[in-house]
Amino acid sequence: MATSVILITGAFGALGQAVARHLAAQGHQLGLLDAAPAVPPALAAEFAAHLQLPALDLSQPAATQQAVAAAQARFGRVDGLVNIAGGFRWETLEAGSAATWQAMFTINLLTAVNTCQAVLPAMLAQGSGRIVNIGAGAAAKAGAGMGAYAASKSGVQRLTEALAEETKLRGITVNAILPSIIDTPANRRDMPDADFSRWVTPEALAEVVGFLLSDGARAITGAGIPVTGRV
Ligand SMILES: NC(=O)c1ccc[n+]([C@@H]2O[C@H](COP(=O)([O-])OP(=O)(O)OC[C@H]3O[C@@H](n4cnc5c(N)ncnc54)[C@H](OP(=O)(O)O)[C@@H]3O)[C@@H](O)[C@H]2O)c1
Repeated sequence: MATSVILITGAFGALGQAVARHLAAQGHQLGLLDAAPAVPPALAAEFAAHLQLPALDLSQPAATQQAVAAAQARFGRVDGLVNIAGGFRWETLEAGSAATWQAMFTINLLTAVNTCQAVLPAMLAQGSGRIVNIGAGAAAKAGAGMGAYAASKSGVQRLTEALAEETKLRGITVNAILPSIIDTPANRRDMPDADFSRWVTPEALAEVVGFLLSDGARAITGAGIPVTGRV
């Protein structure tokens, strides 16, 4: 894809920033969507040329539609969507609550459902579009304490497959990336004794996102691509 308009959710998080940096360097125009109450000052300056939409709860359909409308008003079109917004909770069934399952589905799956629905009319009208969802390796098999998270990320994979089928004859591709543990500051804090060199970096993941948005990936749709570093 030549220079185009890409919306990134969770854009101010660890992976979101790296993806935004990579796509900005490729010359894309970006809409940066996130729940953070305000844009972190360093990012506000770095991405001053792009649309910045903080304080946005993408689990709310109306707010999501408004954000996509704002991007269309600013750029005139939307060519790509990268769904990175998400979260993680470790909790066993024995010690946990159904509320955690609800929360994981809201944060990881509903946000992506809402953004996909919001961008679809524009992509279908123009007969082209690229959607990249960030799932997780855990979507395939849940470990202990991972039930709610894994189920929600499995939902992201099913969303990816269904939407890919629904749009495959209409110029749109929909794919998911399935990272294992990412080398983020939060993970380094939580697991100080781990071998960080084995974890996939946000920058490496950003390059895969860039590829899936590119013309070179036009033949790929409905895929769930493990990107796991050396884990
Ligand atoms: N980190 C890992 O090891 C790992 C592994 C596999 C998959 N993943 C997936 O990769 C993605 C990025 O991970 P990360 O480590 O970069 O996480 P992160 O730093 O926590 O970034 C996620 C961002 O999404 C935002 N967000 C959450 N709920 C939202 C909502 N309802 N509306 C709008 N924005 C929302 C968060 O905002 P707030 O912080 O303000 O809520 C945060 O800025 C996530 O989908 C995660 O599940 C991560």
